[in-house]
Amino acid sequence: MTDYKLLTEQLRSLAEDEPYFIPVLSNASALIYEELEDLNWAGFYLMNKGSLLLGPFQGKTACIRIALGKGVCGTAAQKDETVVVKNVHEFPGHIACDCASNSEIVVPIHNPDGKVIGVLDIDSPSLGRFTDEDKKGLEMFVSALEEVTDFALTD
Ligand code: SME
Repeated sequence: MTDYKLLTEQLRSLAEDEPYFIPVLSNASALIYEELEDLNWAGFYLMNKGSLLLGPFQGKTACIRIALGKGVCGTAAQKDETVVVKNVHEFPGHIACDCASNSEIVVPIHNPDGKVIGVLDIDSPSLGRFTDEDKKGLEMFVSALEEVTDFALTD
């Protein structure tokens, strides 16, 4: 079982000196990929020109743009809620980037005004990999991420 409290503390310390979103999200995806068992992809999609654009990640190359409402990521972003999928092959419109993926969790990320600005997407080769504990833990991780990250594109 992942220690999400520790994972969140590690994230906070990684972002302490540099809050800019590229290093923070790159390290956050590496941290998740390293610390959670049984994953084949972990990364971010960020809102850009009305759809989700691929951001920092670990794993195989992935699709670059996902429309709102499409796939698991687009559904989570549109509904503004965490989506846990036990079997991606049964999810209507699932976008298969890596055919090894069998289950998935997607957690929306918000700006300080509460608007969805992206999602955290994690895939596993095992069916039903993500439990309610993982959902709670990853939602805590994402709230810390929202607090510590500067999502401004330019300065
Ligand atoms: N599975 C996602 C697409 C992104 S890849 O898994 C990295 C989806 O259906 O939203």
